[in-house]
Amino acid sequence: MKPARDAILWAAQNRWLSEHLPRYRFVRASVRRFMPGEGIDDALGAAERLAPDGIPATFTYLGEHVRTPADADEVAEHYQALLDRIEERRPDAEVSVKPSHLGLALGPNDTFDRLRGLAERSANRGRHLFVDMEDSSTVEPTLELYRRLLEATPNVGVCLQAYLHRTSADVDEVAKRGGSVRLVKGAYREPRHVAAQDRADIDRAFAERALAFLEVGGGGRLALATHDVALLTEIERRAAAAGFGRDAYEIQMLYGIRAADQRRLAREGYRVRVLISYGTHWYPWFMRRLAEHPANVWLALRNLLSRR
Ligand code: FDA
Repeated sequence: MKPARDAILWAAQNRWLSEHLPRYRFVRASVRRFMPGEGIDDALGAAERLAPDGIPATFTYLGEHVRTPADADEVAEHYQALLDRIEERRPDAEVSVKPSHLGLALGPNDTFDRLRGLAERSANRGRHLFVDMEDSSTVEPTLELYRRLLEATPNVGVCLQAYLHRTSADVDEVAKRGGSVRLVKGAYREPRHVAAQDRADIDRAFAERALAFLEVGGGGRLALATHDVALLTEIERRAAAAGFGRDAYEIQMLYGIRAADQRRLAREGYRVRVLISYGTHWYPWFMRRLAEHPANVWLALRNLLSRR
């Protein structure tokens, strides 16, 4: 499966494909499995449909690597408007943002100001702001921003990727600072010296990082963001042996993936949250969803054939 994953992740970064593939109707139809629509109202509507099952939401406005400071300001304004809409419609929801979408490569100080504005607005309303993690070249600048944010307001969390060799130290540091972590396996194509490549190694690292966060007991939230139900069961077993109940962490999954498991886990009393993405710049994000589960490529091709 690794060559298929690598090829899809290569295509995710290819400029020509990113301009051409989204024009095809079968590609647009395939995106709908993972995204309720392109507008804020589509995302809010999806959150309202999850609410009766006791499942709160996290919203992400899709996009990454903006080219100008004005574009980054526009993204920050969009998120401010989203926070207002959340207040109006009152779903149990928070927001998660990509640093590169808020201008990380153009200047960390401006990005920090944009992030702080969103974090403070979220905190004033009793919500967290989460910061996504992107490819490994952005990890250190993202964590630098996160440390500064955490000093400004405690209601901020950061995503850490279990596949990175450095993440053991990062989990320890963030936990000791009282920060919140969304632990994921990792979605980017990384070289062997930077990230584990084998599934078993990544799963083992994920469980160990989760347990390490709990053991530090820094007071922040721990979100296990994975659809790997067997891994969740294994972590629950090890956490229980170490004296932690299932209320010590939450489970997060993506909209449209393992939806039946999301509802079942919530019914069984786990704290489950679903991340809902929306927006028009969905191409690289959609390709990462295909790479995670190459069988999705066949589903997309089925959409192509059924439309002929
Ligand atoms: P794994 O890939 O082993 O999948 C377990 C099972 O889940 C599969 O067997 C399949 O049944 C199902 N599944 C998983 N992905 C699927 C898909 N795309 N389509 C259909 N079925 C699928 N990454 C990152 O680098 N930075 C980030 O900020 C985030 N943020 C984030 C937030 C949340 C809430 C989640 C759930 C995930 C992320 N990720 C992420 C993505 C993460 O790194 C990882 O790529 C995916 O979660 C897929 O890995 P799993 O842990 O689900 O396990």
